[in-house]
Amino acid sequence: MKEIRFGIIGCGLMGREFASAAARWLHLTGMRARPRIVSVCDTNPALMAFFTENLGPIQATSDYRALLANPEVDAVYCAVPHVLHAEIYPAILAAGKHLFGEKPFGMDAAQNRAIQEAIDAHPGLVVRCSSEMPFYPGAQKVIDFVRSGAVGDILEVEAAFLHSSDINPMKPINWKRMEAVNGEYGCMGDLGMHVLHVPLRLGWRPETVQASLVKRVTQRPDGKGNMVPCETWDNATITARVPHDGGHFPMVLKTWRIAPGEANTWSLRVLGMKGSAFFTTKSPRQWQFMRYDGTQAWQTEDLGYTPLFPGITGGIFEFGFTDAIQQMWAAFVDELAGGDAKGFPCASPREAADHHAVLTAALTAGRENRTVEVTYATL
Ligand SMILES: NC(=O)c1ccc[n+]([C@@H]2O[C@H](COP(=O)([O-])OP(=O)(O)OC[C@H]3O[C@@H](n4cnc5c(N)ncnc54)[C@H](O)[C@@H]3O)[C@@H](O)[C@H]2O)c1
Repeated sequence: MKEIRFGIIGCGLMGREFASAAARWLHLTGMRARPRIVSVCDTNPALMAFFTENLGPIQATSDYRALLANPEVDAVYCAVPHVLHAEIYPAILAAGKHLFGEKPFGMDAAQNRAIQEAIDAHPGLVVRCSSEMPFYPGAQKVIDFVRSGAVGDILEVEAAFLHSSDINPMKPINWKRMEAVNGEYGCMGDLGMHVLHVPLRLGWRPETVQASLVKRVTQRPDGKGNMVPCETWDNATITARVPHDGGHFPMVLKTWRIAPGEANTWSLRVLGMKGSAFFTTKSPRQWQFMRYDGTQAWQTEDLGYTPLFPGITGGIFEFGFTDAIQQMWAAFVDELAGGDAKGFPCASPREAADHHAVLTAALTAGRENRTVEVTYATL
């Protein structure tokens, strides 16, 4: 099997998830290629022990330039705070490495544009943006249902990413709550790609948006005995007007970091004139659908382990978050090895740019309490 040699820049939460997915690659069957992590980089050296202890002798450096200078590295996964995307992603491409970058692909639209220019300058490199939730089998069922035409004219779409990790106001601040590092989008920058990936893939590009932005926690402890400003938006509810063949429809996008009772809920609901479909990670092995042949009654189907990229797990068993991460990586590695990601490639730079256009409009809409037109970048 072909081997693709990876470097990881940013060894925090998400860097470890990739290492774990790569370590159990034997889980997948029939893959064209496998990833091998040959280099890791983090400015916090303490975080690299996880990698060096589990992966044996690999390059470990606190300077990403050293990783990029390593000729053994074919592709790079970059999972660093948002403010650094616009510096490091172009450097990765300039070094001739394929890029799998974490969302939001730049802290704001201007930084995204700078990344896009670097991508345009290196057309031979494969570039994708992280977004794993659509790889749940239930999400794929909703996508297939829509693509089959079973929905008919659309009445409404709702896509949500809800969690409650910031509900405790005394949780110490981290970079995700600081505007200078996370960006002005706040929760929309953290979670916006998750809710927009599938809508944009299905061709649902908002024309205008309204947005309700909520900021409930204005100060947090800094971990050193002081209270410091907590600047970012906690929750955003965007209502978009989407042009479509059967007429405009409303699309509600919820990115909430303070959603009481929610752990990490990604959901997608499509309501149409002929049929409707729904998936939520709260019921990870089920999806629901309705076809109105006489009655309007939701049907619920248990899916079990039926992902795009087959694995050793029996079809009767459950699929979970770490599987979704591995499926996303399978899609990227398959593309690097010349495959078509089984028809569902990871989020593209174009989708990342379009999501910035929506979030930029939503930020103005929410701040100024008005409807704002979405201006898409010409790529
Ligand atoms: N796809 C998902 O589900 C998901 C979930 C969480 C976070 N993310 C994204 O992943 C990225 C990282 O988030 P995280 O939660 O892993 O954050 P994190 O804080 O856990 O990890 C980021 C790491 O980057 C390191 N770092 C900072 N500056 C660096 C530099 N100059 N060179 C090398 N390393 C540097 C930090 O020391 C830290 O260890 C963000 O873009 C975030 O939006 C994605």
